[in-house]
Amino acid sequence: MNTYARLPVAFVRGEGCWLWDAQGKRYLDGVAGVAVCGLGHAHPKYVAALREQVGTLVHTSNLYEITLQERLADRLSAISGMENVFFCNSGCEANEAAIKLARLFGHKKGVESPSIIVMDKAFHGRTLATLSATGSRKVQAGFEPLVSGFVRVPFDDLEAVRRVAENNRSVVAVLVELLQGEGGVNICHDGYLAGLREICEANGWLLMLDEVQSGMGRTGRWFAFQHSGIKPDVMPLAKGLGNGVPIGACLAAGPAAHLFKPGSHGSTFGGNPLCCAAALATLSIIEEERLMENAVRIGDFIRSTLAQRLAGLRGIREIRGKGLMIGIELEQPCSELVQQALEKGVLVNVTVDNVIRLLPPLIMKREEAELLISALVPLITAHLEKHSAPQAAAQSG
Ligand SMILES: Cc1ncc(COP(=O)(O)O)c(C=O)c1O
Repeated sequence: MNTYARLPVAFVRGEGCWLWDAQGKRYLDGVAGVAVCGLGHAHPKYVAALREQVGTLVHTSNLYEITLQERLADRLSAISGMENVFFCNSGCEANEAAIKLARLFGHKKGVESPSIIVMDKAFHGRTLATLSATGSRKVQAGFEPLVSGFVRVPFDDLEAVRRVAENNRSVVAVLVELLQGEGGVNICHDGYLAGLREICEANGWLLMLDEVQSGMGRTGRWFAFQHSGIKPDVMPLAKGLGNGVPIGACLAAGPAAHLFKPGSHGSTFGGNPLCCAAALATLSIIEEERLMENAVRIGDFIRSTLAQRLAGLRGIREIRGKGLMIGIELEQPCSELVQQALEKGVLVNVTVDNVIRLLPPLIMKREEAELLISALVPLITAHLEKHSAPQAAAQSG
């Protein structure tokens, strides 16, 4: 179906931070399959782990014990401090599990019609419940009636959450991305998570952090919440977890950890041996190769070099991000830069029309980051000059 306005390129092979098309042209990957391929493409250890697993056992069923799933759950719990894991196949499913947990939690407390606080500009997926939780009319339009039970507030605004707490007795949880990805790489202020935790504690709500995009080392820690040390009760994950093999997970702790019982929720493929082997290999490689440190180093380098080289240009609103989740916000729409960068052999993304988003593999080297920047800076400069020219002419005239 015609669900994507695709770029006119098909990649046939990848290695590290590079992709090749059928004509042999190579491209530097600044998107990593939208924050998925943290290890880059065809990482030898990852390939070996998958080959081994494919030749051993791909799928059984959640009707039986799955040792690799148990190992992965233990590993994810150890690095996050969470207690229990439900496995699925994608980010929206991980969020669906979170929403179901919140509703179960609410009913258990005697709330007849539990609702969840969600944010403006949030993105949680495309299933009916997750698009209803998403804060974008574009995503929702045409799919009404939306799923009820969401109360929307502005992102990064604790007062707004407090006001809901005062006036709405049906709320049982808050669902938030600490770094909004699709919404424009928006970052919350330092005390936001602590403030949310305090409000959740005071009202007996679950704190649910959607780390589908920000998790798995992308921001320089396993999970974005670890920059502040405030732990969630529920944490949906996906994207970078399997490095491209589809796997999602919903982690839970404390009051959320034991809500699901046999029969409450399920997934045919969720946590099968192949996906779990991929995720276990991904976790080991991120750790062994110190890729989180690399994400911090290369992310800082990209942001500071872009800031230097774009300094003084009119039309740059902000360069922001954490680790290798980077946004360059312009004053004008800039979607055409994606095609222009592609022609130069560089993959970048634009979200919300005017934010260039960089999500390179966590393995990116400094020389590759330099190439990415050197390709991008002239394109941004030309774009801004072209679009600010009439305004400047009008002003001078
Ligand atoms: C924060 C966040 N949550 C959920 C999703 C949905 O994930 P999926 O496309 O795997 O369903 C995304 C996808 O971009 C995301 O960025």
